[in-house]
Amino acid sequence: MPALLRISDTTFRDAHQSLLATRLRMADMEPIAARMDGLGLYSAEVWGGATFDAATRFLAEDPWERLRTFKKLMPNTPLMMLLRGQSLVGYRSYADDVVEAFVGHAASAGIDVFRVFDALNDERNLSTAARAVKKAGKHLQMTICYSVTHGGRMGGPIFNLDYYAERARVMAEMDADSICVKDMAGILAPYDAYDLVAALKAATNLPVQLHTHYTSGMASMTVLKAIEAGIDAVDACLAPLALRTSQPAIEPLIISLKGTERDPALDLDPILEMGDHLESVLPKYSEHMETTRAAVIDAKVLSHQIPGGMISNLVSQLREVDALDRLDEVLDEIPRTRKDLGYPPLVTPMSQMVGTQAVSNVLFGRYKMVSRQIKDYVYGLYGRPVADAAPDVAKAVLEGYERGQSPITTRPGDLIEPEMESAREAVKELSTDLDDVLTYALYPTTGMRFIRIKHGLDPVPDEMQPPIEAAAAGRRQAPAQPVAAPLSQAPPKSSRAKAFNVYLDGRAYRVEVDPVGSAQRGAAHAAPAGGGRLTLKAPAAGEAAVAAPMPGIVSRYTVEVGQRVDAGDAVVVIESMKMENSLPSPVAGTVRELPASQGATVAKGDILAIITPVGPAGSG
Ligand code: CO
Repeated sequence: MPALLRISDTTFRDAHQSLLATRLRMADMEPIAARMDGLGLYSAEVWGGATFDAATRFLAEDPWERLRTFKKLMPNTPLMMLLRGQSLVGYRSYADDVVEAFVGHAASAGIDVFRVFDALNDERNLSTAARAVKKAGKHLQMTICYSVTHGGRMGGPIFNLDYYAERARVMAEMDADSICVKDMAGILAPYDAYDLVAALKAATNLPVQLHTHYTSGMASMTVLKAIEAGIDAVDACLAPLALRTSQPAIEPLIISLKGTERDPALDLDPILEMGDHLESVLPKYSEHMETTRAAVIDAKVLSHQIPGGMISNLVSQLREVDALDRLDEVLDEIPRTRKDLGYPPLVTPMSQMVGTQAVSNVLFGRYKMVSRQIKDYVYGLYGRPVADAAPDVAKAVLEGYERGQSPITTRPGDLIEPEMESAREAVKELSTDLDDVLTYALYPTTGMRFIRIKHGLDPVPDEMQPPIEAAAAGRRQAPAQPVAAPLSQAPPKSSRAKAFNVYLDGRAYRVEVDPVGSAQRGAAHAAPAGGGRLTLKAPAAGEAAVAAPMPGIVSRYTVEVGQRVDAGDAVVVIESMKMENSLPSPVAGTVRELPASQGATVAKGDILAIITPVGPAGSG
C-alpha cells in the first residue's frame, strides 16, 4: 500500500501568483520560510512561474537573491521551481544556451526540484531543460498540463486517458524522476482524477504529484480522490492564500488524513501560526486582491476553462479599450478561438495568446488582426499543437507571415541562434554577474531597467516601493496614503486618464483622474528617450490613416516615408496587451507621414501613419 502522503507547499510561488498578482515581497515571506523549514515538506515551491518577472518588473527585488535567501532560510526543505520548458520563466522560447545556463545557475543558487512543463505538452520543448536538470544532479519533475476539449470532463478524441498515459511514458523515457499533473484551471474533476492517477501509476513506476487550483470548487474533492487512487504527493498552501483561484489549503488536508495510512504526519500548530503571520501582512496587498465577487469559487470555469489570472487580464485589456461590456462575448469566443487553433491548453503563454486573440476577434472581426505570437504559434514556433489548427484559420493567420505559409515540423529550439554571448555583451558595462546576464537574456527591457536600479544607476521608482503598512484596524482596506499632499512636480498625464464631472454644493467641476503610475507604466516599455506621447496628427481630405485600435507602444515601423504600399501591407507594429500586432494600410498609396517614434506610448485612436492613396503599387 502507498506510504504517507507527501505535501508540497506553494505559498511562496503559486498561491500569491494566483491571488496577489505575484506581489508578495521577500520581507513578508522570510519569517514564515524559516518556520516552514521544520515541517518536513516534500518540497516548497518558491520560485519560477511569474515570480521572476514580477520581482524585476514590479518589486525591484532580485529574484536570484530571493532564491539564495530561501535556501538559507530553508536548508532542510527541497526547494522547487516551476519552469516553462524552453520558455524558462519568460513568454517566448529561448536558445538552448540560455536554457542550459539558466537551469545550471538556478540549481547552484538553490533549486532542488525542477517542475518542468510545456504549454502544448510537446516534450521536445522540455528536452534541453530536462538534460540540464539531470546534468546539475537535481530532481526532474516532468509535468503534464491537464486540459479537456469542452464540457468539463476528461475524455473525447484528444485529451483522454491514452493521451495522458502516453505523455507519462515519454517522460519516463526522458529520465524524469517524477510526474506532475498540472491542473492550472482547476477543472480536473474528482472521479477523472482517480482514473487519471491510476492510469499514470500503471503507465510508469514514477512518483506522481498533483498540482491543482481551487478555482471551480472541486479541488478538495479532487485531491481526496487522487489520494485514494494512490497519488504520491499533492500541492497545498497556507490557508490565508488558499482556495479561490489558488491551491487547496494545507490545514484541512492534514486533519482529513490524520490516523489514516496516508497521514502526512505534519504538525498543525506551527502551520496555524504561520497562517497568522501571513494574515497580518496581507492587508498591505489588498489592492491586488480580487474581492468584488461574493463567491469564492468560479463555477463558470467548468465550462470556459479559463484560469482566474486570465480573466483579470481580459478585464483590464477590455477596460483599456473601453469595451468592458463585451467581456461575455469574449468569454464565448475563447472556446471557439481555442478550437480553431488546435486546442492549446490554456496555460502561460497560450492562455494570454488565445485570450488576446479572442479579444481581437470580438473587437475587430475574426482573425482580422492577428498577433505576431499567434502567427508564430500556428507556424510551429511554440511546438507541435495538440491538434491541427482549422485549415482556413491557419491560412488566414499565416497570410503574409514572413517566415512562410506552411508550418514547420522541427523542434522550435533548433531554430534559435545562441543568445548568451549577446546578452553578456549588452550588460557588460553594468555587470558581468551571471545573475544579471540571465535577467537581461530573459527580459531585455524590464530586465535592463531592473539591473540599472540594482546597481544604483537609477532610483527605485515610486510604484516599485514596498506597500505601506495598513492601519491596525484597516484589514482589507486600501493602504493609508496621504491624499491631499501637493506633488512637487506634476507627473505626465497618461492615456488612462479619465474626465469626470464632480458636483459639489450645487456647482459642477470637471476633474481628470489618472491612476498613480500610469504614465510610468507606459514609459517602462519605452526604451528610447523622447518616446513620449504623440502630437496629434490628422490626415488631410482624401488621405487615409492608420490609427491605433487600442492603447499600446510603438514597437517599430515596417515602412518609410515616401514608400509605396498596397492595401493590407503592414505599416507599423504596436505592442499591446503583451502581444505584437502589425497594423495594415487600409489603402494602396504612398506613405506621407509616420508621426510616432519607436517606443512611443499611444492611445486608442492615435494616428500612426498617413497614407496618400494612389493605384496599387507596381500597377502605374
Ligand atoms: Co498553478
